[in-house]
Amino acid sequence: MEKYAAQTQQEFEGWEEFISKPVDEKVQNFIRQNRIYDVIYAQQFDRSFLDYLCSLADSIRLLAKTKVGQSKLRHLLPHKRAMLYFVQPSTRTFLSFQNACHILGITTSEIRGTSTSSEVKGESPEDTIRTFASYVDLIISRHPEAGFAEKTAWVLNQTDHPVPVLNGGSGPDQHPTQALLDIYTLEREFRTIGGLDGKKIAMVGDLKRGRTVRSLSYLMKNYQDVELVYVAPEIFRMKDDIKEFLSKHDIPFKETEDFESIMPEVDAIYMTRIQNEYGSDPTSEAETYPQFHLKTSHLSLIQTHCAILHPLPRRYEIDIRIDKDPRAAYWRQERCGMWIRAALISYIFGVDGEIMNELS
Ligand code: CP
Repeated sequence: MEKYAAQTQQEFEGWEEFISKPVDEKVQNFIRQNRIYDVIYAQQFDRSFLDYLCSLADSIRLLAKTKVGQSKLRHLLPHKRAMLYFVQPSTRTFLSFQNACHILGITTSEIRGTSTSSEVKGESPEDTIRTFASYVDLIISRHPEAGFAEKTAWVLNQTDHPVPVLNGGSGPDQHPTQALLDIYTLEREFRTIGGLDGKKIAMVGDLKRGRTVRSLSYLMKNYQDVELVYVAPEIFRMKDDIKEFLSKHDIPFKETEDFESIMPEVDAIYMTRIQNEYGSDPTSEAETYPQFHLKTSHLSLIQTHCAILHPLPRRYEIDIRIDKDPRAAYWRQERCGMWIRAALISYIFGVDGEIMNELS
């Protein structure tokens, strides 16, 4: 029988000083030659970057419609390799990143659980990530621990062989590339009605432990006259750090438990599931909170242009009969993930200009 060891804990000089800094200062560590190098927090993105990335994703999408265009995309980065280190379950983020890499010609490797890596022999997460950097040009990570991507990117940046790190979800704190695809989806859904500026968005469900709503909330600072409505059971209310961020940036928001009352006034409803994986009490975690579900009877209450989003996976939050309603944007949202991630990777490797020139 094999003997496994607990993971080795390593202390890095300078790390404590780094994490005590405000995010505005920390982001400098993740920039090279005036471009984003590691994607760790949603706060790294400004309006011009978001607009550019959405337009880049549109261009990739358009090119990929033809055989010739697909071939051009595939010849952009065939000399690059990427590691998908996904040790927390994922379907969409994993597949959309993997296929985004393949669209651009990048070869991918994957680890989908610590039980199949040398971490079971006691190797530290930091040494594990450093090992990936010996073989590949890009690391995309999904991890159950908050701050995991931040730490590994920081550690790699102290070495003489760093590679970019993209955060594909780190515990309950951040999911910055989900926020990118959410913005891309909202901008597309509102394309004929002036885009995201001036819109009122409801975020519904487990807002306390849902990293997607946290990252998306951060991005709202980039849009004019946006308002947020947080709809959650008392125990899953949005945390104070996000509410303080919104207040600091003069973004109006309100909180309610009365979902139906706000349905007629919002331009988008962003549904989320209960994040049981971060809970410790099985009895309360079995509750499905039906008063925070979107039902077919609600379709007559919401506006004709209201976009219904969900980062997925869903459970019972959205009745499957709603899928046929043209306002149900979540399957389109899922597809947007692959295109915006392809845009992000092309930007990280500096081939975005070639893509834009192809269509100019
Ligand atoms: N939205 C999202 O992160 O989905 P997965 O957990 O399936 O990657």
